Amino acid sequence: MKNKIKGLKKLREERDFAGGVDKLKQRQASGKMTARERVDYFFDPGTFVELQGYIQHRSSNFGLDSKKFLGDGVITGFGKVNDRIVYIYSQDFTVLGGSLGEMHAKKIVNVMDLALKAGAPVVGINDSGGARIQEGINSLAGYGDIFYRNTISSGVIPQISVIMGPCAGGAVYSPGITDFIFMVDKTSHMFVTGPEVIKAVNKEEVTFEELGGGHTHTTESGVAHFLGNDEKHTLDMVKELLTYLPSSNLEKPPLGSNEDPYDRMEDKLNEIVPVNPNKPYNVKELIALIVDDSKFFEVHSTYAENLVVGFARLGGKTVGIVANNPDIYAGTLDVNASLKGARFIRFCDAFNVPLVSIVDVPGFLPGRDQERLGIIKHGAKLLYAYSEATVPKLTVITRKSYGGAYIVMSSKHLGADYVYAWPTAEIAVMGPQGAINIIFRKDLSTAEQPETLRERLIQEYKDKFANPKLPAGYGYIDDIILPVETRPMLIKALESLEHKNLRNPMKKHGNIPL
Ligand code: HXC
Repeated sequence: MKNKIKGLKKLREERDFAGGVDKLKQRQASGKMTARERVDYFFDPGTFVELQGYIQHRSSNFGLDSKKFLGDGVITGFGKVNDRIVYIYSQDFTVLGGSLGEMHAKKIVNVMDLALKAGAPVVGINDSGGARIQEGINSLAGYGDIFYRNTISSGVIPQISVIMGPCAGGAVYSPGITDFIFMVDKTSHMFVTGPEVIKAVNKEEVTFEELGGGHTHTTESGVAHFLGNDEKHTLDMVKELLTYLPSSNLEKPPLGSNEDPYDRMEDKLNEIVPVNPNKPYNVKELIALIVDDSKFFEVHSTYAENLVVGFARLGGKTVGIVANNPDIYAGTLDVNASLKGARFIRFCDAFNVPLVSIVDVPGFLPGRDQERLGIIKHGAKLLYAYSEATVPKLTVITRKSYGGAYIVMSSKHLGADYVYAWPTAEIAVMGPQGAINIIFRKDLSTAEQPETLRERLIQEYKDKFANPKLPAGYGYIDDIILPVETRPMLIKALESLEHKNLRNPMKKHGNIPL
């Protein structure tokens, strides 16, 4: 027995250092954590359980038969994060560059299947040279199996991708399907075709970082949602995100601590929105005054900043916040903001996270560029996402809410359960200047003193529309509230909708304007 135990211990050691000491040293010298260190750091101490650690590839192409590695370049299993089960795979770059072959893929597929059966999130730590070239079609098949499962699991269990090295070629499409992508500053890269191919095909010189670095994907393409300063910071953010999410679509998100008084009223809220409708302010300050402990976990914080989205808690309950940000492009909606908002709303709806929309929007961003980029179809996504969402939908209109953007931003007409307006709310087809120029064009062009007339008409328009009384009179607004009352009102509203159970008509699936 002693020998057997000794043998197993040796085997485990071999598994734990599958890439060999040299590669491990190279890894450590590069400042990156190993695949196993990442797993250990991620889970609550002592909770990780490894699966299929002794799998090996069965290819003999190009000398692979003499290169066997226990675990085949990926660590898989489950453990606990803040005491809740999470499944994981973590690619090991020290084994054939973390490349994905037949058995490597089988291990990933196995944890994905288990996570789906168990109703628990799956986190993938990607650090790989992509399809294992020596294994040819079997590598591609492996990717296909993973993409298929990503899709089938979408909306059932949260799927999170963490990019901690290269992620190139078709391999990017697994993270691309998942709900959230985390990258690490300077050390992670994602692209479909690398700099060398681009140079050969397009004669274009581009660095790894410009092409697929964390900044590119969190600020320009919007492919990634979060950028960590380093690996530990990134994994900490993943753990924090998980605290806001349910384990599957069959559950509600876990309750947070409920120590922030529900009736806390911040006087600063009465001052935060400038009376001048053209003056900007940062909506994140407003959010911080309302939510529990002023904690707002922002998603996509550096992408399409004219719309702010993220998770927070109200009375201990997770909510998804969608807020126009007058600080950037006056809070207008453009293509990127529409895409960002729509995807976030659909995530929240899939995972039983109530939506709180904070509205101060002058309209859609006008311009030839936006039309050419397809603001019609992308803006429609936002409308669609809000309309089909059946979770509790609460709306607070703080200032401007004009035109199509009024309807889009979780209006009563799209099924909002409660719409509240601050006394500063202005709801109209458009802003005063534009409106008067259109409806009184003839009068203004023939008036002896057009500016005086314009001013008078603008004032009349403001008197009529620059307050929430009219829409409240039509029932489009449930209540006009003092800004300081926002937190208690939202918490009471959420409580009243605790058992909201709305089902849209049965269908195979809708046809969101992609
Ligand atoms: C097999 C691979 C590999 C791969 C890397 N390695 N990528 N082995 N298949 N795809 C091996 C290397 O041979 C090397 O082995 C070890 O991993 C480390 O690689 P290095 O090149 O020495 O490391 P580094 O300089 O850090 O460069 C990392 C890299 C580079 C940028 C990832 O290796 C690279 O460009 N690899 C190819 C990337 C790629 O084009 N993949 C295919 C993408 S297409 P030794 O034994 O020497 O240590 C794709 C299709 C998916 O993935 C389709 C899905 C539908």
